[in-house]
Amino acid sequence: RAILHGELRGDDVIVVSNREPYIHQRRGERIEVQQPASGLVTALEPIMRACSGTWIAHGSGSADREVVDRHDCVGVPPENPAYKIRRVWLSAEEEAGYYYGFANEGLWPLCHIAHVRPIFRSSDWAHYVAVNRKFARSVVAEARTKNPIVLVQDYHLALLPRMIRKEMPEATVITFWHIPWPNPESFAICPWRQEILAGMLGSSILGFHTQFHCNNFVDTVDRFMEARVDRENFTVSFGGKSTAVRRYPISVDWPPDPALLAKPVEQCAADMRALNNFPAGHRFCIGVDRLDYTKGILERFRAVERLLELNPEWIGKFSLIQVAAPTRSSIDEYQSHEAQVRALAIRINERFGRGGRDLPLPIVLKVEHHDAGQVYEYYRAADCCFVSSLHDGMNLVAKEFVAARDDERGVLILSQFTGAARELPEALIVNPYDTDQCAAALHLALTMPVDEQRNRMRLMRGLVAEFNVYRWAGRMLLDAASMRQRSHLVETGG
Ligand code: G6P
Repeated sequence: RAILHGELRGDDVIVVSNREPYIHQRRGERIEVQQPASGLVTALEPIMRACSGTWIAHGSGSADREVVDRHDCVGVPPENPAYKIRRVWLSAEEEAGYYYGFANEGLWPLCHIAHVRPIFRSSDWAHYVAVNRKFARSVVAEARTKNPIVLVQDYHLALLPRMIRKEMPEATVITFWHIPWPNPESFAICPWRQEILAGMLGSSILGFHTQFHCNNFVDTVDRFMEARVDRENFTVSFGGKSTAVRRYPISVDWPPDPALLAKPVEQCAADMRALNNFPAGHRFCIGVDRLDYTKGILERFRAVERLLELNPEWIGKFSLIQVAAPTRSSIDEYQSHEAQVRALAIRINERFGRGGRDLPLPIVLKVEHHDAGQVYEYYRAADCCFVSSLHDGMNLVAKEFVAARDDERGVLILSQFTGAARELPEALIVNPYDTDQCAAALHLALTMPVDEQRNRMRLMRGLVAEFNVYRWAGRMLLDAASMRQRSHLVETGG
């Protein structure tokens, strides 16, 4: 955090992402400020607080005209402004084509192995190109110098790095891809694969969460582009420009905001029991996700069903609380996924539910937005946390759960298909497609001796404390700084 505070304060730092870190919405006479459910926002927000600068984002949630006028460019966080948001406004057609269409029906399923077919429409692509151009114009307008440090975030903005480079050749463009990168065969089905790759190769540094995704990216470039790939240094030279491809595993704020840990664990447990009408001694597992088909929520529910089949002693004594933030709801695939999640919860609850007695239901599904304070109370109160993603770049819920447990209790069950599984081997690592294995992990978590919980949690907390989100950003920025120094030396002949 010191590096970000000290070295970057004077620099011209611009973050660009689709998702805005704060949503200003009008409720009657009041303007309500909400934080969206997004791993990207969770990670970048503390970084921006530390180094100030400007965050350029799509003004998605703030559609009201009056709100638009007043909050086009605002200082945030609202209680103590540390940086500013500059909003890019999109028409409904642009949003449909660029965000819902190309980014979330095309690139999202293309990059995640969740067996959902990507949809590529040329009209969506045209909007994607046009909106990336709009963001590029905004970056140029916001830059205070000719060589800003621009941090481009995620798959919505793959074309932006090259566009920025064209306008500002001296800019340092660091692009971070928050989702997995597929193998070359999978990526090949994208009709605009070369344009996407060329866009990304406008970056000075291109980051992924895992080495595996860096390898996939370099293999993809090697297969489809006229580029020079240096596998020793992991750089790609294309169109006279060199891009370093690096692994930077993202993380969470550490130490967490003290306000999130203020309520004692016992109090959190008592409050959560009261809120959910659980009797004393009732055990529960927490799941926190956007309602997205990549998160393995159906698989998690099936694991609960299997647990109750194999270990009927848990019937009426155990529940899974699933917090599911609504997301991308105008996309067909998301609507049908939500319907399946709701139907499965009802079926399992009917099968193992009250049966005439006043017992808690096995699955408590809460499809609504929860703020960080509420989510942390659940983390602190739960016996275990279940992350069952079918595929996930990192998954910050896993790291948040660890950060929340300063009592060194609680068990993390973690899908092997998340980036986080590579860093947290002390979790109970599972294959979400293997229902019996997941059910066994739930049983193990609920019966794990306190000493073992503590030993595992301590090791995981040590890792998250050391490799926190400041380390993630710090390493990227230090790599960028040495790159800037080297090119300065070359230019000045020194
Ligand atoms: C993933 C993506 C982010 C995105 C988040 C929430 O974490 O990598 O870029 O912000 O999902 O999705 P949404 O579509 O609501 O921004």
